[in-house]
Amino acid sequence: MTLKWWQKAVFYQIYPRSFADGNGDGIGDFPGITSKLDYLQELGVDAIWLSPHFPSPQYDCGYDVTDYCGVAPEYGTLQDFEVFLQAAHARSIRVILDLVLNHTSHLHPWFLESRASRHNSKRDWYIWRDGKNGGPPNNWSSLFDGSAWEFDAQTGQYYYHHFLKEQPDLNWRNPEVKAAMWEAVRFWLRLGVDGFRLDAIASTFERQDLPDSTSGYDLAQLRALDRAEKPLSRAKIRKLWAKTFEHQFSQPGLHELMKELRLVMDEFPGDRMLVGEDEKIAFHGNGNDELDLVFNFPLMRKIPFRPAAVRRNQAERLSDLAKVNAWPCNTLGNHDTGHYISHFRPEEAQAQARLHTAALLTLRGTPFLYNGDEIGMDHLILERIEDIRDVTANWLYTTDCSLLQLSHEAALAHAVSATRDKGRTPMHWHNAPQGGFCPADIRPWLPVNPNYSQGVNTADQANDPKSLLNFHRRLIQLRRAYPCLADGEQAMLHEHSRHILAFLRWNAGQRVLVTLNFSPQPRRFHWRAAAAAQGGLQDADALPELIFSLSDTGLKQNTLLLAPYDIVLLMLTDGKK
Ligand code: NOJ
Ligand code: CA
Repeated sequence: MTLKWWQKAVFYQIYPRSFADGNGDGIGDFPGITSKLDYLQELGVDAIWLSPHFPSPQYDCGYDVTDYCGVAPEYGTLQDFEVFLQAAHARSIRVILDLVLNHTSHLHPWFLESRASRHNSKRDWYIWRDGKNGGPPNNWSSLFDGSAWEFDAQTGQYYYHHFLKEQPDLNWRNPEVKAAMWEAVRFWLRLGVDGFRLDAIASTFERQDLPDSTSGYDLAQLRALDRAEKPLSRAKIRKLWAKTFEHQFSQPGLHELMKELRLVMDEFPGDRMLVGEDEKIAFHGNGNDELDLVFNFPLMRKIPFRPAAVRRNQAERLSDLAKVNAWPCNTLGNHDTGHYISHFRPEEAQAQARLHTAALLTLRGTPFLYNGDEIGMDHLILERIEDIRDVTANWLYTTDCSLLQLSHEAALAHAVSATRDKGRTPMHWHNAPQGGFCPADIRPWLPVNPNYSQGVNTADQANDPKSLLNFHRRLIQLRRAYPCLADGEQAMLHEHSRHILAFLRWNAGQRVLVTLNFSPQPRRFHWRAAAAAQGGLQDADALPELIFSLSDTGLKQNTLLLAPYDIVLLMLTDGKK
């Protein structure tokens, strides 16, 4: 099967502010990123997803853009970007950018014009409405910040913001907005970028007739639900969220817009790709005319994995994708959800990280890694409110105080444990002050997690054959060496097991059996019987080749003795090779 580059690639998300500081001012930048490309090449990744690098006042860490064709001055110049892009391409590493379509910054020149007067030619580029009964046009909530409407005293109308009030929504029903944004898209494609990750696409359109939400819950009340004395189940809370925002998400027009964007992409050669920040398979359109990938967030939400849950996820997801001939895409976390290792109990975190990574890199689909996860970076609880940069945490703090009447201490504890900052702290390069991210005497934009001195840094791990970093390198190399791990079919085996996740990946020439023991106990696994259910080995006496074994497992004629949390990959020599 011939795959496109983005089907074979291992993607790596770089959060530019936290990745590498080239000029020593405590903020990551392009010269820094360029200097780490050799590191990424050794890790073996094929593509970078770069979180927003555009000029921005940083109310939402770059997801509030003031110039779609520029580079944030603290990250460097456009020339620095081009040097980075060329250096990445020279190492056969592709680069996709983050495209924020739903909203701009409130300081974007388009919005400044739009808010200047009701008659400005860009007034209709955003969503302006008159108030109702002395208040906003309706009861919609923003996803981040109280009401979705902000009053503008100068022109006497409200503007709509799905996220922060510093992120006004564009009016995508206006053809001029589309034309302007598609030009920005072409600008980067001409420079040679390989595609885009599309931010928050589901919220691009909202209902034009603005009906009130009838869920009975606004954002603050929704947020309070899981903190109530008798919290509702997660599923019920998710339903209520969906109801509250039903008129603000997934509205008609979205798929037509994605089709238009696809056509813009296809004006350029080289299979430029689109991955949506969404999980809905509908974004694949007919399989060819919208997005290439959407994330398997349902799998991510299953961390820590239980084998049965992964099997259910795979059965459902792969059969739904197959209907439109679309390709899967798996991830364990990102800059919003943070470092996935923090989901595990400390005593088993390292072992679980290996199991989850092995699953990510061997299940069918394009894997996305989040920077820092490859060395086991975890969450840093910021103790001082002045260290917090993610403004959504400020909102939590204020509503906790006003709505839940919590004490300052309790509200602060909630804000620091919930803020997305905890998973965005600077990358650890060495066991050196500030983790080697920036000079010792410089205060980085977010504090560095002190565990860089306990082996959580790239330099120490590069020298340790048993490190998590080297585990990632080996697994990524295996994906290359055994292409069936990328292009092969997949079938789950041993489907009743509570502890072992076992599956077969195969193409015309190779069959690899992946076995992951999620239990803290040793387990015996009858590999031959399990594999037989899917064709197995043709030669009953042949032994498979052990291509990966975490703990030098005993491979026997018919069984494997798996150590606790063991990972074993067998190449089944099926006689056809
Ligand atoms: C999703 C991004 O991942 C998140 O970081 C951001 O806050 C929102 N979209 C708004 O752009
Ligand atoms: Ca810098």
